[in-house]
Formats: sequence, structure tokens, C-alpha cells
Amino acid sequence: MSISDLFKPLTLLHGPAMRNRFMLAPLTNQQSERDGTASEFDQAWIGQLSQGGYALIQTCATTVEAGGIAFDRQMGIHCEGHLPGLSRMAAAIRRGGGLSAVQLHHAGHRANPLLGGVPAPASGDTLPGVHALSTQQVERIRDSFIAAARRAELAGFDGVAVHGAFGWILSEFMSPHLNDRTDKYGGSVANRARLTLEVIEGIRRACGPDFQIGWRLSIERYGLRLEELREVTAEILDRELIDYLDLALWDSAQRVREGPFQGKTMLSVFTDLPRKGVRVGAAGKIMSAQRASQLLDEGCDFVLIGRAGILVRDFPLRVHADPMYDSPKLPVPAQYLRAGGLSERFINHMRGWPYFVEPGSA
Ligand SMILES: Cc1cc2nc3c(=O)[nH]c(=O)nc-3n(C[C@H](O)[C@H](O)[C@H](O)COP(=O)(O)O)c2cc1C
Repeated sequence: MSISDLFKPLTLLHGPAMRNRFMLAPLTNQQSERDGTASEFDQAWIGQLSQGGYALIQTCATTVEAGGIAFDRQMGIHCEGHLPGLSRMAAAIRRGGGLSAVQLHHAGHRANPLLGGVPAPASGDTLPGVHALSTQQVERIRDSFIAAARRAELAGFDGVAVHGAFGWILSEFMSPHLNDRTDKYGGSVANRARLTLEVIEGIRRACGPDFQIGWRLSIERYGLRLEELREVTAEILDRELIDYLDLALWDSAQRVREGPFQGKTMLSVFTDLPRKGVRVGAAGKIMSAQRASQLLDEGCDFVLIGRAGILVRDFPLRVHADPMYDSPKLPVPAQYLRAGGLSERFINHMRGWPYFVEPGSA
């Protein structure tokens, strides 16, 4: 396919179509107020992105419960007080012509007590001295995801993206390594996937017919098993429970190292599944126009832009203007990011990522 295919609209099962194939990946940037309220810096970042040509912009991982927090200055959607700031963001994205989604997050066993987090492990063996969540507590967290989705809808977002990646609570429950429960949320694959499915189905029931649901999945680490995740994904696609699947790969070209799919690209293990009306996209080192367009050839309906979207706020527009567009080489000096409009809070967050900000640059 050619670069122009990246600019063809893409219908979703619910609500308005994506105007092109570019989605901003969820990007934590630690610049909210300490109670989770969106700050002026959050508004400025979203304001810049809203003019960047994206079809859909996901927010950073946003807490569905105060106790589910993982990061200092993480944005929240767990109380009514968060609504005004979120509404402003949703309105800015809509004015720019894009769709919007709040990424719904609970850190599970990795909730940070120093920030008011309450570690919530699936298993009593994960953290010394911390009991596994009771069945009722699991159901409360499920309901918090659903209540948060309702708040996103009230705030004017087009949808939510359910964070099922990176060992956070939904991926924790999916893992046979981190989940040894004997209730309905543990044991078989179907039971370990139950929390994810109940969250998604609960959101579908609680929100309006145009509300869009994305689901983010990562495959590696945390004891996750590729074949099991494929099985769960196949069901979610077959039942059309979501509007889009976001495959969180760190490298969209990576290959499976062992097992029945050894040698195949990780992406193809999922793009080969029948997807009915659900759209499938991937993240992972998509830094150039050419790579983005290759991914359509590899079976993606859309691409998620992460780090390339921090380097410039208007990656889709740059690709539109130049089919050979390539991101600046990493690492970049802090001043490059500052001049582009990133706040000091965001830049400091990025100093924690390897090979992004030039070490020692002021
Ligand atoms: C600064 C930064 C913050 C991130 N925050 C989140 C997040 O809040 N939620 C999430 O699911 N992934 C998060 N990720 C992962 C990205 O969404 C993306 O999947 C990953 O960076 C790979 O894409 P890239 O190579 O284009 O950066 C983050 C990545 C970076 C670099």
C-alpha cells in the first residue's frame, strides 16, 4: 500500500469513523496535579496534539480508582472533580477534528503506596504480607472501570481504551504466573480473562450506542502466554466486543522466539485471526512514514504512534506533507523538546526513558 492509504478513513463498529489511520498511543507524562486533576500542562499537550492530524488521540493511563495509582502526577478519572479538566481535553480534541479516548488504568499489584496506592494483587503470593483481592474487591474494581467509562462519556470523550497490557491489573489477572485464584476469576483461561471481559461488556452496557471501546494488549513478560492471549483475542474479535484492538509491541517487527508460532511476526499471530468489524492496530518503533505504511501491508488497519509523537506533535501532518518523513534521531537534547512545546514535567519524565533525552542536556 502507499502512503495515501494511511489517509483513508476507517469506520468503527460504534460512533464516528476515524478520519485516517493514525492513533496517538497512550503516553504517561506525569504532569497532572497530585489529586489526578488535569493540569494546564496536560491541556497544553492535548491542545497541541489536537492540531496534529490524528484520527484518534488516547490520553495517558488514567486511574479508575485513587488506590490504583502507579505514577506520581498520574491523571485520574475516579471522581467527579476530574470531569471539568477532562471535558476541556475532550472538547479540544473534537475541535481539532479527531476522536478521543481515555485510557482506563488500574495498577493492580503495582499500585504505589507512596502515592496513596493500595496494592491489589490477584494472588496472595505476589507481594509479601499482602492478601489476594477478595472476589468482592475484584468486582468493585471491575465496577470502577465501568464507572470511569461513564465519566469519560459524560466528559465528552468518544470512548475509552481499556488498559490490558504491561502487567497492570487486567493483564495480571490474565497471567497464570500472577493469578492462582480459585474463584471465578482464576484457573482456566476463560476465568483469568473474565475480569477483562466483564469490564468490556459492562462498559458496553453502561455507555451509549456510539461509545467506542478499545482494548490494549501486550504479550510479553509477566508470565503471559501467547497462545492463551490469542485464544482470548479470537473470542473478543469474534464477538465484536470492542471497536479496536491495540497491540502494544515494543517493536512492531518483532518475531516470536518459541512455541508453535516461532519465527512468525508477533503481529501476524493476531492479524491472522478473523476480526469481523473490529479494527486492529499496533504500536512499536513506528518512527517513519514508510514504516507506518508497511504496517498496513502487514495487516494493520491503523498504527499507534508513541515516541515519534512526543518528538513532534503533528506526526500525521508531517507524513502527509512528506512520504519520506522520518523522526529525528534519538536521543535529542532537552532543548529540542522544550522548543517544541513540552513542559519541564514532561521532559523530566522523558529523562527516565532510555535513549530519548540526551544525557546531561539542560
Ligand atoms: C513516555 C512514554 C509513556 C508511556 N505511557 C504509556 C501509558 O500510559 N499507557 C500505555 O499503555 N503505554 C504507555 N507507553 C507505551 C506506548 O504507548 C507505546 O506502546 C510504546 O512506547 C511503543 O511505541 P513507540 O515505539 O512508538 O514509542 C508509554 C511509552 C512512553 C515512551
